[in-house]
Amino acid sequence: MENRYGTLASWVYDLDKPIGRSFGDIEFYAQRLHDCRGPILEPAVGNGRVLLPLLREGLDVQGFDASEEMLERCRAHARHLGLEPALSCQRFESFAYEQRFAAVIVPAGSFQLVTDFAQARAVLRRFREHLQADGRLIIDLDPCGALIRNEGSTRSWTVSDDEWLTLTEQPLHVDFVDQTRHSYLRYEHWCHGRLASAELERFSLRWWGVAEFELLLRQEGFTDICVFADYQPGQAPKQGCAMISFEARRT
Ligand SMILES: C[S@@+](CC[C@H](N)C(=O)[O-])C[C@H]1O[C@@H](n2cnc3c(N)ncnc32)[C@H](O)[C@@H]1O
Repeated sequence: MENRYGTLASWVYDLDKPIGRSFGDIEFYAQRLHDCRGPILEPAVGNGRVLLPLLREGLDVQGFDASEEMLERCRAHARHLGLEPALSCQRFESFAYEQRFAAVIVPAGSFQLVTDFAQARAVLRRFREHLQADGRLIIDLDPCGALIRNEGSTRSWTVSDDEWLTLTEQPLHVDFVDQTRHSYLRYEHWCHGRLASAELERFSLRWWGVAEFELLLRQEGFTDICVFADYQPGQAPKQGCAMISFEARRT
């Protein structure tokens, strides 16, 4: 299965992007949502890096994720902070709630994990159906420059003196027709110089053109679309920016 975020991937995520680690996104979301009175949904909530700080700001946020391992980490961090967010194991493609939300937020480029165009379109439709009249959708997308590279990488994280984790990314294929990048992610857990466990995940992401995504949002019933670069309200995307955020309102 693609984009699995299993046991070692979740551990690495937690070490690399712990609760509250911000790329400017936590402050951006807190600012955009400060007047949001209704419930907020964060699909692909992960370890709660964004959800937990927003809850502590007094916002009413809940989330879902496809990975039980990521959710378990989110629950543990929430318990540690004395918080009890509503969390469930669901997927972008099939999630369902009785209630309707004042906002749906998708930080960190997680929407790009949906690589099939028709499915991505259906997910946007599902987001819309789950918004209250006038509710807002805020989504971050990595610019395509971050994805079209075809080189691999190795990174490591120290757990203790004799224990560490490594992540090796081996690129497989960049598909310029489907606008997707496919790679293998090999996670390894090393203890006392021995390999304790390893996991291999197939990882795929889709890139979007700015105008393409704006058109799709309009087609799926969103209006009042604003596009920001690098979490700076009022700053339009330009060559070299690191993240592009779309904010749109349900018609
Ligand atoms: C980059 S992490 C983002 C976590 C968190 N939102 C943040 O900003 O730090 C992506 C998350 O998407 C989840 N995910 C991957 N595919 C998914 C799917 N089809 N439906 C729901 N969640 C999915 C993964 O399990 C992972 O927790």
